[in-house]
Amino acid sequence: MKHLPVEVFIQRRRALMASLPNKALLLVPSATLVTRSRDTEHPFRQDSDFWYLTGFNEPDALLVLMKGYSEGEQFLFNQPKDKLMETWTGIRLGQEAAVIQLGFDQAFMLTEIDQQLPKLLAEASEVWMPIEDQALYSRYLFWRQQVRARFKRVASLPARITDLSQQLGEMRLIKAPEEIELMKEAARISAEAHCRAMQVCRPNMYEYQLQAELEHEFRMQGASGPSYGSIVGSGDNACVLHYVENKDVMQAGDLVLIDAGAEYQGYAGDITRTFPVSGIFSLQQKQLYSLVLKANLLAISLTRPGATLDELHQAVVHCLVTGLVELGLLKGEVEALIEAESYKVFFMHGTSHWLGLDVHDVGLYRQDGKARPLEEGMVFTIEPGLYIAPDQQGIDPLWQGLGIRIEDDILVTATGCEVLTSGVPKTIEGIEGLMKGEDHAAAGV
Ligand code: GLY
Ligand code: MN
Ligand code: MN
Repeated sequence: MKHLPVEVFIQRRRALMASLPNKALLLVPSATLVTRSRDTEHPFRQDSDFWYLTGFNEPDALLVLMKGYSEGEQFLFNQPKDKLMETWTGIRLGQEAAVIQLGFDQAFMLTEIDQQLPKLLAEASEVWMPIEDQALYSRYLFWRQQVRARFKRVASLPARITDLSQQLGEMRLIKAPEEIELMKEAARISAEAHCRAMQVCRPNMYEYQLQAELEHEFRMQGASGPSYGSIVGSGDNACVLHYVENKDVMQAGDLVLIDAGAEYQGYAGDITRTFPVSGIFSLQQKQLYSLVLKANLLAISLTRPGATLDELHQAVVHCLVTGLVELGLLKGEVEALIEAESYKVFFMHGTSHWLGLDVHDVGLYRQDGKARPLEEGMVFTIEPGLYIAPDQQGIDPLWQGLGIRIEDDILVTATGCEVLTSGVPKTIEGIEGLMKGEDHAAAGV
């Protein structure tokens, strides 16, 4: 299991403060447990910003940073050690170990926060926090009142709050080498799970059984589980973009679309592959699949620093519309069909999103009203698809109910890009070969 050293997190906290003025106060809350039913909870998943800055995986904590403060700059408020509670819910790090293991200047019990925070706030020049967090905001208002009550000579309190999410989003968008290592691992495990699904898939299996195969592989390889709800849609179900029921029997002759990825050390893999349930593509399936693959490969070939996600999307749209006209699925002039957005009945989603600690990761897509240029260290998906609804009017029934998406995770490098998810085949020969029992390398991707 790869773990990041504590220095990485200390350095991220310093880097975040570096661009801010002296005495800027930053607040980043952890996630809390969410009830699943009566007194049982959903599995805990740490808040991505909090994890990025602390590497601390407990609920009910608050990260507090104050640049240039006399008593230290990096503070943690977390749960106290509690023998009885730890017997039920597991070991807590506590305050002493938080200082040593997580590199904080001081750690306090969360119950001390109303005592400590007003002291810091009384000296703060600015306040930065996630402004959409209502619980934190109401606590913040209480701390302001406390400053007025307890520190009567404070001249002024910060007049506004600045949203920390955007600042952190920009930091998180460019992945450091140690993050890229973790993302490669998330992609590798995700790819192996997709290979497993192709290898075991047989007609008359249930979709949820393929889901179980994928998620078994995730856990067996040290991932914490799926990075979003696994989608296993066979036949018509492939045309439902977020189909997560995974409840049907898979029929010979149908395709199955799997969109699933592993979460490793907080980082998401996000892969889609579409393959024939019985291992052999039909003619129509081959034709439509080849077109989506062409668009996927075209977008990858255009990826390099300076290109934009808008350019990739436009290239994908042009490629798909040209192919749809050639197949007779769209009628008219390519440019006019693009202008009228007629293709959106078959391709209704975007081509890309940022990928990182969140599957739809943070970071602005546009700057100054323009698509931002790609930079080395960004990671994103390329995921063109075509979906011919089962009740699509005016279409030969041979095409109806076909849903195909091919999604890869892409790292922008100094000169181009690296496909992190090449461990699972996507060519027709590669998929049919793997499903026949050839090994992936021999079958070719
Ligand atoms: N799995 C979610 C997505 O591809 O965006
Ligand atoms: Mn995606
Ligand atoms: Mn996906």
